Amino acid sequence: MPLVPPPAPAVADGLAAVPDRTGLRVPPRAWPVRLSPIAFGGDYTPEQWPDAVRREDVALMREAGVTAVTVGVFAWAMLEPAEGRYTFGWLDTVLDRLAEAGIAVDLATPTAAPPPWFSTTYPETLPVARDGSTLGIGARESFCPSSSRYRDAATGIARRLAERYRDHPALAMWHVNNEYGAHVAGCHCPESERSFREWLRTRHGDLDALNEAWGTAFWSQRYQDWAEITVPRVAPMPVNPAQQLDFHRFTDDEFRACFRAERDAIRELTPDIPITTNFMATACPRMDYWRWADEVDVVANNHYLVAEDPEGHVELAMSADVARSLNDGSPWVLMEHSTSAVNWQPRNLAKAPGQLRRNSLTHVARGADAAMFFQWRASRAGAEKFHSAMLPHGGTRTRVWHEVTALGSDLSALREIAGSRVTAEVGMLWDWESWWALELEYRPSIDVTYLDAVRRFYAALWRRNETVDFVRPGADPSKFRLLVVPSLYLTTPTTAAVLRTYVEGGGRLLVSFFSGIVDEHDAVHPGGFPGPLREVLGLWIDEFHPLPAAAAVHLDPAPAADTRSRLRLRATVWSEEVVCEGAEVIWRFADGPDCGLPALTRHPLGAGAAWYLATRPDGEGVDRVLDLVLADAGITGGRTPEGVEAVRRASPLGSYLFLVNHGPVDTTVPGGGVDLLTGERWADGVRVPAGGVTVVREDRTADGDTHR
Ligand code: GLA
Repeated sequence: MPLVPPPAPAVADGLAAVPDRTGLRVPPRAWPVRLSPIAFGGDYTPEQWPDAVRREDVALMREAGVTAVTVGVFAWAMLEPAEGRYTFGWLDTVLDRLAEAGIAVDLATPTAAPPPWFSTTYPETLPVARDGSTLGIGARESFCPSSSRYRDAATGIARRLAERYRDHPALAMWHVNNEYGAHVAGCHCPESERSFREWLRTRHGDLDALNEAWGTAFWSQRYQDWAEITVPRVAPMPVNPAQQLDFHRFTDDEFRACFRAERDAIRELTPDIPITTNFMATACPRMDYWRWADEVDVVANNHYLVAEDPEGHVELAMSADVARSLNDGSPWVLMEHSTSAVNWQPRNLAKAPGQLRRNSLTHVARGADAAMFFQWRASRAGAEKFHSAMLPHGGTRTRVWHEVTALGSDLSALREIAGSRVTAEVGMLWDWESWWALELEYRPSIDVTYLDAVRRFYAALWRRNETVDFVRPGADPSKFRLLVVPSLYLTTPTTAAVLRTYVEGGGRLLVSFFSGIVDEHDAVHPGGFPGPLREVLGLWIDEFHPLPAAAAVHLDPAPAADTRSRLRLRATVWSEEVVCEGAEVIWRFADGPDCGLPALTRHPLGAGAAWYLATRPDGEGVDRVLDLVLADAGITGGRTPEGVEAVRRASPLGSYLFLVNHGPVDTTVPGGGVDLLTGERWADGVRVPAGGVTVVREDRTADGDTHR
């Protein structure tokens, strides 16, 4: 990202650019107006508390500057204590008080937690694990996504809520269910099995096509009758990978059908209120959120730091960038994060002073127009009592409370940035289907994982302040100067064709190893590796040579290559025998099974070039790869002192530079403008205190240059 602000856009490139979806009153990606300008609050579970506490809640929310809360997420048993008997009175009072206090409500359907009476009356709605055991009650999310009984009941309670609160002044947005697919990887009950067979009929048409797609001639798996097909079960050996991949797709579709049923019931009654559900962008490998993004009015995301990860803030940035990309670049809702420790990691480290502010404002920097938490007040009882909250057990004298109220003031000071958008020059392909397929059993190396592949490039780009937009496979990437494709194991011919057109049109493409291997049925592309990417990359791969655990290889610049690097670099996990067919060799393996053979190549094609990386370099190696590739793409970028993250949001109103200092030293970054958080005017360099955040409305002249 250049540190010089861009010229002001002539017109807003936000909602106006989003095509209308006929028949819908809420245009997709429309910001829920009642959450404007920047929503601040969290999950609110008043059903846990006596009325005196609920009254205090509203008063303290006002004190903290809370503008919005999510109510009712797991309140089914408190709203319908027995079948057909409703107790909405307490919720009426809660919503009335919130409305009176000017606090908007993201009203949740409670369907992620069917009550015990429901599960015991209808035990067939409980999910069944792969080993055939039925998952019990006493937790939450105990429902089978294919159960028609569950779907009817869920739609029923959703409709009741919409009927009752359709005109409530507090109602700002609907929040359907909660983190679909987070805890149930798929249901293996008889009803799911029947639905799976129906789903397979629709997908494959007839049994011959299914047998062909699944490669059932191998291991005597040929099906003669639909009734022989099961959901994947515990079996003596890995179940057919194409069957498992289809089961992933089926499960994702079934959860989405649950969402759609509730959404459509609500939409009928409240066509003007946006509807969403909360995603876990980088943390839920089970849902294909590209498809989910097509269904929601605005993307809402949850993010929890892995507390022991020293680079957790980089992963946080990645999650935020995925969320923004899912929402087509428009402002998205950070539905949940934590004020301090969570309760479900092995060691639940508390956030250090200032970390809450850095975390929340990083999400905002990356396009969130909301900073919401799980949860408002810490629970005294139940499974999550050791999870942090906006209002901790110790109340308003606690450090967390002070940091929370300070964040409320920060967000209020930042209100003019609402609606502005983040721009990126680098795109990165992100594909859930390929992730599912890559991590099935019997792959060349268990050390190759999708998130690792993506994170290595993302982290290197983060270190250079290159903001990344994630790109859906098959989508047109031509607006990016560089497109990074980390280990795209499953590559369809359509995706490959888009990549080729992109390069021919002048784009720079960087693909990493184990890409282009299988088609949508997990069958190896004819002719070997990298299948449909062979032409664009100008090479083929004779054999994979995965490395033993803890082994390393080294890489040297190829003698003839034009490279700035004269370092010997180290790589692990993977090596392979690359045979060039038009690609030039930039680096070679200096040792290991492919000693002397290409490790990094560049293939000029049309007006662009495609790079290929045949191994997994250490962090420094990825940095050096990016030196070459970014220079080739003409991206110069703006470096900040180490550990200082820079992201820009812009709108016709202004260009806003967010600087987040993750390091222990006060620092100054070139530039100038008005500090929105302190009101200070920076004329010759913007100061970012150690561990702090600075947001400046940048000075700019008509040509987009800084004031200097
Ligand atoms: C998820 C859920 C919340 C809560 C948090 C705890 O995000 O949606 O209800 O359980 O995890 O971190």
